[in-house]
Amino acid sequence: VPRLCRVLQLTLAVIKPDAVAHPLIIESINANILENKFLIIRRKDLHWKKEHSEMFYAEHSNRFFYQRLVEFMSSGPMQAYILARDDAIRHWREMMGPTKVFRARHTSPDTIRGRFGLTDTRNTTHGSDSVESAQKEIPFFFPDFCIDRWMKEEEPLYR
Ligand code: PPS
Repeated sequence: VPRLCRVLQLTLAVIKPDAVAHPLIIESINANILENKFLIIRRKDLHWKKEHSEMFYAEHSNRFFYQRLVEFMSSGPMQAYILARDDAIRHWREMMGPTKVFRARHTSPDTIRGRFGLTDTRNTTHGSDSVESAQKEIPFFFPDFCIDRWMKEEEPLYR
């Protein structure tokens, strides 16, 4: 029996300053998003102040890389997306590849980080890692977007 209806999940995807600095990398990531059958629900350009970066990564404030990470994430423009598809969180994280660039290059050279990642800090993209984090991160980036309303009002998608 063909499956008629996809159940959509939302995730937050961010293209970090290292990747935004290269138009061909953004183009390639965008093409990759569409090829993987994501719907782009919202998209915005932004440039964080250091305070935003500190707030977003507060849970990592004891890590040795915290300062480096918050400086980098406020160092230039970024692009943020709300993406939807079935199993969106897992799919986007699979497309990004491992966080650590050495691992990404060696074990997953076809992923976004494997192809374009420069270091563990300059690793091209961010993605929510669970439903709970997507529910926190989407409003952090898109305060005017109401997840519950979107879930209720959007027509189911038939294929
Ligand atoms: S870890 O090491 O498993 O806890 O890392 P992880 O939870 O996957 O990563 C959390 C975010 O920290 C970034 N990160 C780093 N930044 C700078 N230097 C080093 N060494 C480093 N290691 C991890 C990593 O890119 C994650 O950022 P986001 O934006 O969530 O991808």
